[in-house]
Amino acid sequence: MAPVSITLNNNNKVPNVGLGIWKLDPASNTDTIYNAIKAGYRVIDGAVDYDNTKECGEAVNKAISDGIVTRDEIFVVSKLWNNYHAPKNVKPAVEKILADLQLDYIDLLYIHFPLPFSYVPVESEHYPPGFFTPNQKEKENKNIIELENVPLHKTWEAMEELYDPKKGIIRNLGLSNCQGVLIQDLLFGCKIKPQMLQIEIHPYLPQWRLVEWCHKHDIQVTAYSSFGSQSFIELGSDKAKKVTSLLDHEIIKKVASNYLDATSSDVLLQWAIQRKLLVIPKTNSLKRLPANLNFSNKFPQGLSVEDMDTIKGLENGIRFNDPWEWNNMKFPTFI
Ligand SMILES: NC(=O)c1ccc[n+]([C@@H]2O[C@H](COP(=O)([O-])OP(=O)(O)OC[C@H]3O[C@@H](n4cnc5c(N)ncnc54)[C@H](OP(=O)(O)O)[C@@H]3O)[C@@H](O)[C@H]2O)c1
Repeated sequence: MAPVSITLNNNNKVPNVGLGIWKLDPASNTDTIYNAIKAGYRVIDGAVDYDNTKECGEAVNKAISDGIVTRDEIFVVSKLWNNYHAPKNVKPAVEKILADLQLDYIDLLYIHFPLPFSYVPVESEHYPPGFFTPNQKEKENKNIIELENVPLHKTWEAMEELYDPKKGIIRNLGLSNCQGVLIQDLLFGCKIKPQMLQIEIHPYLPQWRLVEWCHKHDIQVTAYSSFGSQSFIELGSDKAKKVTSLLDHEIIKKVASNYLDATSSDVLLQWAIQRKLLVIPKTNSLKRLPANLNFSNKFPQGLSVEDMDTIKGLENGIRFNDPWEWNNMKFPTFI
């Protein structure tokens, strides 16, 4: 079964399965993205912070010039990084993404985190800045990130200026890593409501309320880190290593055994799309690329109500991507 097309609140459409490109192997990331498009992926979930925007653009442009897709058949996603929240910095930051991608527009631009770090020029040797802020050298080892005084709605207004669903340099707008009250606050004043929210979601952290609230407000939700701790083990996270991997969890394996040839990864992705979420699994593996795209073939009738209920029992609130824990920064993003 091919990915299903989801209609956004501005009538644009996006397939419900894509490729996440955070932590793709830099030695092969252009090839991986190109091979993903060849395998049928039509959404590429990138971000400035992943430091592979140029490679993403190379892969997409090669797929277009090789006749695999046309520009309007591929949905290229990026995320405004934290150092570019000040309204005057938004357009230059978007232009830099477009120059790196060698494309004329971005299909969906998220605000990556509701955390405005102080500005680092796009021409800086520190670009993409990650956790670098200008006076950090003097503050080394103190884990201090300097914030800029920019309310989220000001960043949003600057993004709205660049938005048009058919002709803009940004075709769809999104928020990532935001909680309900913050989004509600933005809705009170915005001209364009977000088309998408991207948040961490897996059976340990199902985010039932936030998803229900977004769907009620016609905001689609993309789940990231669908395989839970797996992605954070790559980063060497002690927290992730201590938790039973969802991919190895007896309950997920038991559910998988109820469907012909299904694996734990298939179950985790199917669980998400059955909740009307979009998914963007990341893989470096050529073998897993088609598996992570075509998983729903294993579930012609979907996961049963009983199996969905069984998976519900795994909720424990564990969150793997939390600014509170990054370098001991203690930003209460989700508290
Ligand atoms: N907005 C945000 O703040 C945010 C945060 C995190 C992620 N994201 C986005 O979401 C995407 C996906 O999340 P993620 O990268 O954190 O994690 P993920 O897709 O849940 O998991 C990736 C990990 O699972 C492994 N894997 C992939 N497919 C597998 C399969 N079929 N069987 C077994 N293992 C498999 C990968 O290893 P191999 O590569 O070896 O296959 C990798 O270690 C990211 O790439 C990024 O685009 C966004």
